[in-house]
Formats: sequence, structure tokens, C-alpha cells
Amino acid sequence: MITILTGPPGAGKGTQADLLVERKGFAKLSTGDALRSQIQDGTDIGKKAESFMSSGQLVPDKILLEVLGAELTKRKGTRILLDGYPRNVVQVATLDSLASDFPVTSVVDIQVPKELLVERLCGRRVCGSCGASYHTEFSPPRPDGSCPKCGTMVVQRPDDSEEKAGIRLDVYDNETRPILELYDQRGICRHVDGCGDLESVYQRIDNAISGD
Ligand code: AP5
Repeated sequence: MITILTGPPGAGKGTQADLLVERKGFAKLSTGDALRSQIQDGTDIGKKAESFMSSGQLVPDKILLEVLGAELTKRKGTRILLDGYPRNVVQVATLDSLASDFPVTSVVDIQVPKELLVERLCGRRVCGSCGASYHTEFSPPRPDGSCPKCGTMVVQRPDDSEEKAGIRLDVYDNETRPILELYDQRGICRHVDGCGDLESVYQRIDNAISGD
């Protein structure tokens, strides 16, 4: 069974996914994390994906299919929380073709206004060692810039500059937003307000999926 977490870059998908894993026992599958790990490991997939990611564009569907297939198989039989896939109508069709093994039961769309998204993206800092995510204002790392969990210096993702954030938000509007209509037509899409503190947003998501 799959629950999809969708929404524009910076909406809080990764942050809320981690809370849902911790509190509800979901198995998280983030295609962004999976691709970054391929880049870090220097694999062929990582080499092909890197320029698309750093320029703020979507990675081609064919590459994503390889990543998705392998990662879903690892999680077969679990309650999967899918963060960052599907991101266009072709990817919706791909997921539909896997429905006998991996049916999608609900889609949670986290909605946040554009100005706040840019602020969240540009202020985000991540730990390259343990993967923890911070924000310079909303949830800062230590004053010396190190990660409170493991002590490594946190860094800014290459696609989190103001320019790249703008490109990613345009890509979202043009390519990803249309998938919401498809899931709305199936009656499985829940739209959740992503503004406010982490706990308030979490409670709204928890309520939205409570009947699943
Ligand atoms: P991906 O890693 O999936 O990035 P994204 O979708 O752009 O989403 P983000 O990780 O930027 O944001 P988020 O919603 O997870 O927000 P977060 O919780 O971190 O994808 C990266 C790239 O990979 C893509 O551009 C593409 O190239 C490629 N890719 C991935 N999947 C693909 C696919 N299916 N097809 C093709 N290409 C694909 O929060 C952001 C910040 O806000 C953090 O600092 C956080 O601390 C803060 N924050 C979160 N919630 C709150 C809150 N309530 N209050 C205050 N601050 C908050």
C-alpha cells in the first residue's frame, strides 16, 4: 500500500515524512534522497541525474523508473510513504501499472504559498553525514554551523539557491501540479494546509490519513 506525499519544493514533505515514519511506522521512499545517494556513490544513475538536479529540472522518467523499481521492491509488503514521486502524468501512469503489487490508497497534497516556499528553501541546511535537515531561522543547526545530531558542518543543497528554487517552483507548476487533478478525480487526494509549525501541519496530515 502506498500513501503519496506531494506538494511543491519546500512544502515540508521530507520533514513530515520523517515524523510519519517515526510515529506511524511508514517505510519512507524519497526519490530525491534515492537520487542524491546515487550521486554520492558515483553510480551511473547518479552521473546521469546530477546535472538535471543541480539545474532544478526533473530527472528523465526512464532514470526514475530504474530507481523506483529497485526501491519499491526493497519495501514490498510494507506501508510505503512515497515522497517526490509521481511528479508528472507519465509517472502517474507508471505507478498505475504497478498497482497490483503497490496500490495507491491516498495522496496528501501539502499546500504552502510561494513566498514562504522560497524562504524555506533558501534557508534550508542539510547534514551531509547523517542527512538531518535544518532551517537557518525555523530550526537552526548549532551556532557554529554544525549538526546537533552528529557534529558535521551543515551545507546548503546546490538546488536551494534563490534562482534554482524559482526554476523548481516553475517546474512544479507546469509538470507536477496537473497530477492533482488526476488523483482528485479518483477521490483519493486530500489537500492539507502546510503553513504553521511542524506539529500543526503533522496533525492535519494525520487527520487526513486517519481513515486509511
Ligand atoms: P526532492 O529532494 O524531492 O526535492 P523537492 O520536491 O524539491 O522537495 P524538497 O526536498 O526541496 O522540499 P520538501 O517538501 O521535502 O521540504 P522539507 O521538508 O525539506 O527532489 C530534488 C530533485 O530530484 C528534483 O528537483 C529533481 O531534479 C529530482 N527528482 C526527485 N524526484 C523526482 C521524480 N519523481 N522525477 C524526476 N525528478 C525527480 O522542508 C524545507 C525546509 O523548510 C526545511 O529547512 C525545513 O526545516 C523547513 N520546514 C518544513 N516544514 C516547516 C514548517 N512547518 N515550518 C517552518 N519550517 C519548515
